[in-house]
Amino acid sequence: MKITEKIKEPIAFEMELFEKKFQLAMSSKVALLNRITHYIVNRKGKQMRPMFVFLTAKMISGGTVNDRTYRGASVIELIHTATLVHDDVVDDSNKRRGFFSLNALWKNKIAVLVGDYLLSKGLLLSIDNNDFDLLKIISVAVREMSEGELLQIEKARRLDITEEVYYEIIRQKTATLIAACCSLGACAVAPDDKEVIERMRKFGELIGMAFQIKDDLFDYTEDAIGKPTGIDIKEQKMTLPLIYTLNTCTLKEKNWLINSVKNHNKDKKRVKEVISFVKNHGGLIYAEQKMLEYQQEALNIIQKFPSSPYKESLKLMINYVIERNI
Ligand code: IPE
Ligand code: IPE
Ligand code: MG
Ligand code: MG
Repeated sequence: MKITEKIKEPIAFEMELFEKKFQLAMSSKVALLNRITHYIVNRKGKQMRPMFVFLTAKMISGGTVNDRTYRGASVIELIHTATLVHDDVVDDSNKRRGFFSLNALWKNKIAVLVGDYLLSKGLLLSIDNNDFDLLKIISVAVREMSEGELLQIEKARRLDITEEVYYEIIRQKTATLIAACCSLGACAVAPDDKEVIERMRKFGELIGMAFQIKDDLFDYTEDAIGKPTGIDIKEQKMTLPLIYTLNTCTLKEKNWLINSVKNHNKDKKRVKEVISFVKNHGGLIYAEQKMLEYQQEALNIIQKFPSSPYKESLKLMINYVIERNI
């Protein structure tokens, strides 16, 4: 059995119902929007965020979920989808989930507006049902994600990013949403248990850090992951393998690297040379090590819960985050 199937086993019923609800939550009366949202739901991603929501909720409650859990999962996946649609505009990326991105097919204007539409649909789903505690968790994540993306752009312009700043960027742009999945999953079923909500938030944040380091490592491969690779350097996005290399190479090498990223980032051959240099210098190995450290910390948190099929699946999720090939 595939690891993803094994993970989903204890939440199979919830994930199936979720998909129906999610599709409904996206629908619109506007023909063009409907066409686009159909395009999106037919090319679904890994759905790791709703999986985190349901697994956490069931682990905390001992196996039950409620309407709030479903709505929370839908809101998170709507917001995730909205940020991907916007991210592909920002990163000028033409592929997503193995197909053309919305900006590639409908241009930036429409992609920006569709992203806004999805975001507002998500927020309204919470508001219309008075899920204000969940909405608070989600809104904090949305704010942090925007801040993280902007910090990343600022640093890409100046090319002066440190390892510390890199962690801050990925915490904000990616880890906060996965943290929100886990704290929301707990909050939906145990709204008064602040301690457990915070513990799960931290768990999600740590696993989210590992998740984004893995995503950044993908960029150094040539694997078919359903989105372009080698694009981070093209967009002058400095990620952990490159940051480590810059901090540990000679001054001459550093100047060559910076010059490549600054002035030759659209030159495919030069980008390949940078990628090879980073690989040979041990940049990928270093990033993998850091990813494993975050994974271990996440595992330590989850170990404190009593054993259950949901906990086992969350542990498998931790492995999947770093072993996945898309
Ligand atoms: C992609 O997230 C965006 C990042 C935070 C790296 P996923 O890899 O979870 O995207 P999908 O939903 O499976 O396509
Ligand atoms: C993650 O950043 C996207 C968001 C958190 C919005 P990336 O730009 O690295 O994501 P991919 O690689 O395009 O999915
Ligand atoms: Mg991107
Ligand atoms: Mg990426």
